[in-house]
Amino acid sequence: MMVCEYKPGLEGIPAAQSSISYVDGQKGILEYRGIRIEELAEKSTFLETAYLLIWGELPSKQELEAFEHEVLHHRRIKYRIRDMMKCFPESGHPMDALQASAAALGLFYSLRDLHNPAYIRDSVVRLIATIPTMVAAFQLMRKGNDPVRPRDDLGYSANFLYMLNEQEPDPLMARIFDICLILQVEHTMNASTFSARVTASTLTDPYAVVASAVGTLGGPLHGGANEEVIQMLDKIGSVENVRPYIEDCLQRKSKIMGFGHRVYKVKDPRAIILQNLAEQLFEKFGYDKSYDIAQEMERVVEEKLAGKGIYPNVDFYSGLVYRKMGIPTDLFTPIFAIARVAGWLAHWKEQLAENRIFRPTQVYNGYHEVPYLPIDQR
Ligand code: CMC
Repeated sequence: MMVCEYKPGLEGIPAAQSSISYVDGQKGILEYRGIRIEELAEKSTFLETAYLLIWGELPSKQELEAFEHEVLHHRRIKYRIRDMMKCFPESGHPMDALQASAAALGLFYSLRDLHNPAYIRDSVVRLIATIPTMVAAFQLMRKGNDPVRPRDDLGYSANFLYMLNEQEPDPLMARIFDICLILQVEHTMNASTFSARVTASTLTDPYAVVASAVGTLGGPLHGGANEEVIQMLDKIGSVENVRPYIEDCLQRKSKIMGFGHRVYKVKDPRAIILQNLAEQLFEKFGYDKSYDIAQEMERVVEEKLAGKGIYPNVDFYSGLVYRKMGIPTDLFTPIFAIARVAGWLAHWKEQLAENRIFRPTQVYNGYHEVPYLPIDQR
């Protein structure tokens, strides 16, 4: 057997062949099925982009309407899921609640018919439709309120914000939220997508695939970073404190949240769009001093770390946008999951099409032939 060099974090090692998305980290390009992210953010909707990713092509008008209609009619969650969620501790992190709820969905749809296109479509629709309802339901229930029923006259993003805040959102806010979902829906072979594909490769059900990916997304080096960005901006507190904060981080060799990326060595194209969305929100709904702190951070980090290719990533400005929408900080990552579920499902479908179970190897660096020591001699 050929012995390969061990690469921590599998850096640079292809884990799949995929036609879903493409990143050029040197030029700052991101494409979904060949279409530039900037164009989709301007012209598409989240559900249309989800369709594009999962079925490989932009839908016709009829196909899109049929998909939107199906999603609309699967938004409600079962009373038993809701009752289960009511038993979750209010102090628990919403990502943990989401992971448990997504896995629990699989208990209700246990028929696993992976070769049947109708089963694939039904699972895709159900997961995309119910995950926002579950995120909003947990948010209301942990405050002691009853969950709000989805409203059939509202679009996907407007309905989510309505279920979350118990009031109909401003149309600009709903559109900006929808664009945020487009920006977060897919991003090549990141940790949670890898996790989804490994789980999918065992031919388990799509609810287990999504639950495993949600668990992976929750960590602070992946989806959890935007939550930490907001905490960091609040801790810094003023523009004058930015430089000493960054110098201190660099001296302690600790990572500055919201900066750096395994692939991008320039500013993440999603961060550029998000920064623009943040500005639109501040213009209409009022200024936020954290934005000045964020801009100063970008300047100082560029001055100190541009040589290493460290620039703002998607998480740096997404937190500011979500906070301006009144979304609690610990819901930022579940919102990332609302978007990313469509990307994971695209990878699930692609993995099934040419499946081989993941079974990498390892470089063993432990002992051999060690005698068993009786307990009284240890
Ligand atoms: N602040 C300061 N220095 C950094 C940072 C940062 N945020 N990111 C990387 N570096 C430095 C790092 O110290 C190292 O320097 P040296 O070569 O002198 O030791 C060099 O850059 C390479 O860093 P690395 O940790 O080997 O890079 P990686 O590809 O393993 O890590 C990363 C990528 C995103 C995990 C990392 O940049 C990081 O931890 N960033 C902060 C957390 C964050 O914002 N995460 C969200 C990532 S984007 C969304 C997503 O894809 O999920």
